[in-house]
Parts: sequence; structure tokens; C-alpha cells
Amino acid sequence: MVDYSKIKCCDVKVSDLNQIVAIENNSHFSPWPKKSFEGSINAKNIFKVFLEKEKIIGYYIALIAQDQCELLNITVIKSSQNLGLGNFFLKHLIYFCEVRKVANMFLEVRVSNIAAIRLYEKNGFNELGVRYNYYKTLHGKEDGLMMGYTFD
Ligand SMILES: CC(C)(COP(=O)(O)OP(=O)(O)OC[C@H]1O[C@@H](n2cnc3c(N)ncnc32)[C@H](O)[C@@H]1OP(=O)(O)O)[C@@H](O)C(=O)NCCC(=O)NCCS
Repeated sequence: MVDYSKIKCCDVKVSDLNQIVAIENNSHFSPWPKKSFEGSINAKNIFKVFLEKEKIIGYYIALIAQDQCELLNITVIKSSQNLGLGNFFLKHLIYFCEVRKVANMFLEVRVSNIAAIRLYEKNGFNELGVRYNYYKTLHGKEDGLMMGYTFD
């Protein structure tokens, strides 16, 4: 059971990156390398880090351009997955976008990533299209599912 009143959200700091890279490596089949996170900081992406008792439990990274938002990364530390945190992070981003009058949000997800697809569907994202053979897998390639969310 997550006590949301104890979770802090901050903008990322360069000193967070070693912890973030460790979480990323443990959570993704194709993890972002450290230089991609550094690039996101340099590009001034929306890069939010969530902490519980000063320990990072996850993050999201998004790019807002004019009234469009692309979700680039959302990750919950493995030991705390499936407890509602992904939902909490995504709702945080949706609210962040609402306040900034974003019109649409987009993302892309592996077709095999059922947990993420359910999370997005649950929050009102719809399927927009498929990128054939877009991601590497252990044995070949798999499709990427493009999903979108329209703000009222
Ligand atoms: C995808 C991810 C962010 C979801 O976060 P989470 O904290 O585990 O998910 P939540 O507990 O908030 O669950 C939200 C919904 O997602 C779905 N879900 C979560 N885990 C699931 C699982 N293992 N199987 C099926 N559905 C699942 C459920 O619909 C759930 O809602 P419900 O509990 O009301 O049914 C997290 O699992 C993660 O970091 N995965 C590795 C990185 C990744 O794949 N990021 C997304 C790349 S596009």
C-alpha cells in the first residue's frame, strides 16, 4: 500500500542520474544510457523524479512543444511496480499538461508491454497506429504501438 502523502516530486538533478540509470537498467529491455538522460536535462525536457524517504522510486520524462506533449520515458522502480505508482506518475503529467493548455499527448510502447498499455488505456489513451518491427527483442523485432490522449 503506497502512502502518497509521503511521496515527493522534484525536478531531476544531475546527481540523481546514477540512481536513475540503475533503476532504468533493471526495468527496461532496452534501457536508456546515461547520456540520453543527460541529453534530456540539457534539452530542458520535463524530467520529474519521485522520492520516498529520499530514495528515488521512479521518474518520467516528457517533451512539450507548442501544445503537444510526447511522453518519452516513465519508469517505476521494479520493487514498487504494480502498486499504483505508474498511475500516480501519469496522472501527475496529465495535470502538468492540463495547466499548460496542452492539446494532445503521444507515446509509443512495445506491443508486448501489457502493463504499460493497460496503464495508458486506463488513463484515457487510445491506439493511434502501429510501427512495424520498431523495437528489438531477444529473438528479433516487435511492433511499437502509438497511443494518444486528447485533452478536453
Ligand atoms: C509500466 C509501468 C510504468 C506501470 O507502473 P506500475 O506502477 O507498475 O503500474 P500501476 O500499479 O500504477 O498500474 C496501473 C495499471 O496498469 C496495469 N498494470 C500494471 N501492472 C500490470 C501487469 N503486471 N499486468 C497487467 N496490467 C498491469 C493495470 O491496468 C493497472 O491498473 P489496475 O491496478 O487498476 O488494474 C511500470 O510497470 C514500469 O516502470 N515498467 C517498466 C518500464 C516501462 O515499461 N515503462 C513504460 C515504457 S512505454
